[in-house]
Amino acid sequence: MQRSTIGKIENSLKNCHEYLPGAVSSMNRLVSPSIGFERGDGAYMWDSDGKKYTDFHAAFAPHLLGHNNKEVNDAVIETIGKQRSLFGSGPVALEGELAALLCTEIAALEKVTFLNTGSEATALAVKLSRAVTGRDHFIVVQGSYNGNTDELACNVFNTLEEIGPRVSPGEYPIRPLGAGTVIDQQRLVHVVNFNDLDSIRYVCSRYPVAAVITEPVLQNIGVVKPDDGYLAGLRALADELGFLMIMDEVKTGFRQGVGGYAAVADVSPDLFTYGKAVANGFPIAILGGKSKYMDVLASPDLSRRPLVAGTYNGHPVGVAAAIATVNILKSQGEVIFSHLEKLGALAEQGITDVLTARGVAGVVARVGSAFSFYFMDHAPRDFHDLLVNHDFNRDVEVRRKMIGEGAYLVPVATKQCSISAAHTEGDIEFMVERFAAALR
Ligand SMILES: Cc1ncc(COP(=O)(O)O)c(C=O)c1O
Repeated sequence: MQRSTIGKIENSLKNCHEYLPGAVSSMNRLVSPSIGFERGDGAYMWDSDGKKYTDFHAAFAPHLLGHNNKEVNDAVIETIGKQRSLFGSGPVALEGELAALLCTEIAALEKVTFLNTGSEATALAVKLSRAVTGRDHFIVVQGSYNGNTDELACNVFNTLEEIGPRVSPGEYPIRPLGAGTVIDQQRLVHVVNFNDLDSIRYVCSRYPVAAVITEPVLQNIGVVKPDDGYLAGLRALADELGFLMIMDEVKTGFRQGVGGYAAVADVSPDLFTYGKAVANGFPIAILGGKSKYMDVLASPDLSRRPLVAGTYNGHPVGVAAAIATVNILKSQGEVIFSHLEKLGALAEQGITDVLTARGVAGVVARVGSAFSFYFMDHAPRDFHDLLVNHDFNRDVEVRRKMIGEGAYLVPVATKQCSISAAHTEGDIEFMVERFAAALR
């Protein structure tokens, strides 16, 4: 970083407050305490005062290998050094290399296309499902975040007043995530509970449904796992009722293996979206799936072809980072994923032991390196369960205290925590100690 060109960090932070709305570029970063981070290396981050934090936030999950992984960074630097540029015309070998790597490694992927953000990938997935089925309606799941675009940006965190009592079979009222989002007039989006196939059948019996899009594990409200048979049941319903099953793996993808959660659950959705961990913090997202659907993106019949267009789609920086990340996960996967599972289990056990010793009603929900603690007496099954039973205030309070003591968890209740391959057992013990201290 060239201090001379951008000024001192303190001045830069002042600039943030003066010139950026909310001082941040994504309002999910508008949190309290508001800390200006300056540097990240492996499992650690340093703020602008030089204070060190052990990071369990991982910038909302991309840093699977840890911050600034050298092999991934080197691949990016090498790509730029070779004058790989953005040409904006014709096929690019680097993109072909990544596409082949992904489709070889992930059994359910036959073709892929590259975008920049998870939100673009999920929006395109829905558009493609409409083009393929000729139907307009689609179903989302309460508590599943599927990106910031109109129609999809709804019903993640809500109050009971906003969504009302539990409904099954049935649907919840649409609650846009922000102003200016025009979804409730259109009524093409239907919200149902997670783990609730009856409600999907209910909506499909009333409307022509193109797709159901969901995270396989709800990792934007912590870690809410699918019931046994739920994802396979969703697959079977898609086949029976003719809608496409879109698995939004932007957050789960690559965290438990290169095959994503689909491989863990042994289901084969029609379309997948990936982002975040695939390039260990560099921007790229992927829409992939079966050729018979993906090929519609380049249909010679323009009336059938959804628009895929993006100046930066397949940018060599993101592509090079993704190739390097996937190659690392491929060649060292056994070691990396068993390390992550071991650390995840250690975190789960450690926090559970603290809760038990203190007599505090609480649980840890975890899949691999992703975990969340909840102040309730059972692991949540869906958003309603969480809303009714979890102590949100205590959750934030504990996180803030932990941050003060150098263990960084994003200070937002229920937000999922991430362990990276760069963490050590000592880092987990440190985090558990900080959790214990924060509960006191
Ligand atoms: C499951 C899921 N889908 C989609 C998105 C949107 O991705 P992006 O923030 O890259 O647009 C996110 C981001 O948190 C996500 O967690």
